[in-house]
Amino acid sequence: MLLKDIHQNRRLYTVLEKNSFFNPKHPEWDDPVFVELRKSAILQCREEFIDLCQFIETNKIRSYLEIGVWTGKLVSALNYIFLFDRVYACDTLKHGMPISLPPGSILFVGSSRSASFREWRKQIGKIDLTFVDGEHTKEAVEEDFKNNKDLSRFVAFHDISGWWEDQEGLKYFWKNLKGTKIEFIHSILGIGVWSKK
Ligand SMILES: C[S@@+](CC[C@H](N)C(=O)[O-])C[C@H]1O[C@@H](n2cnc3c(N)ncnc32)[C@H](O)[C@@H]1O
Repeated sequence: MLLKDIHQNRRLYTVLEKNSFFNPKHPEWDDPVFVELRKSAILQCREEFIDLCQFIETNKIRSYLEIGVWTGKLVSALNYIFLFDRVYACDTLKHGMPISLPPGSILFVGSSRSASFREWRKQIGKIDLTFVDGEHTKEAVEEDFKNNKDLSRFVAFHDISGWWEDQEGLKYFWKNLKGTKIEFIHSILGIGVWSKK
């Protein structure tokens, strides 16, 4: 079944109907409209989210880790659609927002750059897809990549377009990353998915 035809997939259709997504028309982080929107939105471009769903289906992703889950709406939506076998989440939770995760998922509270995360990550072992959307500096994504590449079939990075000033390093990192790369870009955000071969 092709997810691109959203009417063929009731669960994807429901997620798209019931959630608001990041609106590239309000890109300023402190814009009052965006401040309100981001409390309740999946912080993804809707079309890039659909492409990611298509990728997950095509590649039979059954285990998922998201680094930087915000309120948990992305991981919850993906799990609702795909009913993963294993779901993991990591966030510092410094934003102080209420967070909701899929039942049965395991949350690491702390930085993905910490020694305790590295230990936790080793314990989880191999998983299909790690979605990196935590700290967006070049140094941080390099570290997230290093900590996850050998333990993930695919590593995805959000915001590869580097639109925000402090994310230019992420764009540079993605551009220079070796391996097989797929891009989903329909907005100032962009998702890139890496695999070794
Ligand atoms: C842009 S939001 C993530 C949005 C979410 N993935 C979504 O699609 O709705 C970034 C998140 O990363 C978290 N974060 C920032 N630095 C982090 C770090 N070093 N380790 C783990 N999480 C981090 C923040 O607390 C925030 O919740």
